[in-house]
Amino acid sequence: MNLDTRLAPERDHPAPAPDGGAPGRIPMAPADPFALVGLVGASRPMQRVRADVLRYARSSAPVLITGETGTGKELVARALHLASPRARGPLVSVNVATLRTELVTSELFGHERGAFTGAFTRRRGLFEQAHGGTLFLDELGELDARTQADLLRVLETGEVRPLGCERPRTVDVRVIAATHRDLATMVRAGCFRADLYYRLNVLTVTLPALRERRADVPVLVEHLLARLRPEVGDRRLATDALALLGRHPFPGNIRQLLNVLRRAMVRDERVVLDAAALADALAAEPGTLGPVPYQTPARDLSVPAVAEAMQASGGSISAAARRLGIARSTLRGRLHASHRGDVCQAQSSLTRSAINPLLRTEEP
Ligand SMILES: Nc1ncnc2c1ncn2[C@@H]1O[C@H](COP(=O)(O)OP(=O)(O)OP(=O)(O)O)[C@@H](O)[C@H]1O
Ligand SMILES: [Mg+2]
Repeated sequence: MNLDTRLAPERDHPAPAPDGGAPGRIPMAPADPFALVGLVGASRPMQRVRADVLRYARSSAPVLITGETGTGKELVARALHLASPRARGPLVSVNVATLRTELVTSELFGHERGAFTGAFTRRRGLFEQAHGGTLFLDELGELDARTQADLLRVLETGEVRPLGCERPRTVDVRVIAATHRDLATMVRAGCFRADLYYRLNVLTVTLPALRERRADVPVLVEHLLARLRPEVGDRRLATDALALLGRHPFPGNIRQLLNVLRRAMVRDERVVLDAAALADALAAEPGTLGPVPYQTPARDLSVPAVAEAMQASGGSISAAARRLGIARSTLRGRLHASHRGDVCQAQSSLTRSAINPLLRTEEP
């Protein structure tokens, strides 16, 4: 089975009655998948998103969801699953960035008993767990090179091979992936496989930033205040407060809007909050902090520090590890796992010579 081309049966046409005549009963209207996951917004850009989700729900081809942080990628993935004929099947979500490099293969594809030291029992991988449903790969841009190759193989063959297993197993899984990274730039930088990118980039949902759909701010505020009600009670915003939020850029998008509302409600206990209360909550945003004293940790393994060490050591992982005062294997782990994409993003401050050896070590 080819996951990329297999089309799911259409959902909206009721099966004909057994006598071949008209369907016996009027089918129940499918529940609104957006309402089910709590996704609101009816601005033009969101109407496009909703239309894309409903169209793509009928297919089993992979979907790539992109958009800035906090724009609702996870909600859209869930809505897509619920709108699809796979809604009765499982939705298995995994945040790739949280998978430990050495375990990622067995997590995704499973392993047989005794496949490696510590594999005391057989384990079904996430692909097998998602059989008949959807696998949501969140933070796709953090996937290491070897797993990118494995994922491509599964998408092409529709088969997974658990570690220590001779025969591959066929899986019927729809893959939805999300990332806030610019994958095209990562492909150009050599940080993401071009073939996997093209494979996943067939059906895409691009989520607009909140500042590109300011018309949704009032309905989002209403929705988020209802979510906050158990915590802060029944509260409202005055018109000037809403107008202030409507003008704010919100780089952290809806997640940031939620945080600002929560902070405003906790700091100011009036039932109706005015613009001054919201301005106060916005000013307290972490991003707007002034310079604060910061003590450098003994071993700074932040992305800039790792990138700087790689550059200073001419791209040698061993030399960079010595500079950082850590084991070579630890640095390799850092580079392969969640830091990989960040290091690639930080490449403007890095020479290609610093990056290339790093990439060479990551070839499967
Ligand atoms: N359209 C929306 N309607 C209602 N709530 C939303 C909407 N979009 C996002 N949210 C809320 O904003 C928060 C962030 O959403 P989500 O986790 O889906 O963002 P994301 O795009 O996956 O972000 P990240 O890239 O940081 O993982 C969640 O609490 C979610 O419920
Ligand atoms: Mg997310």
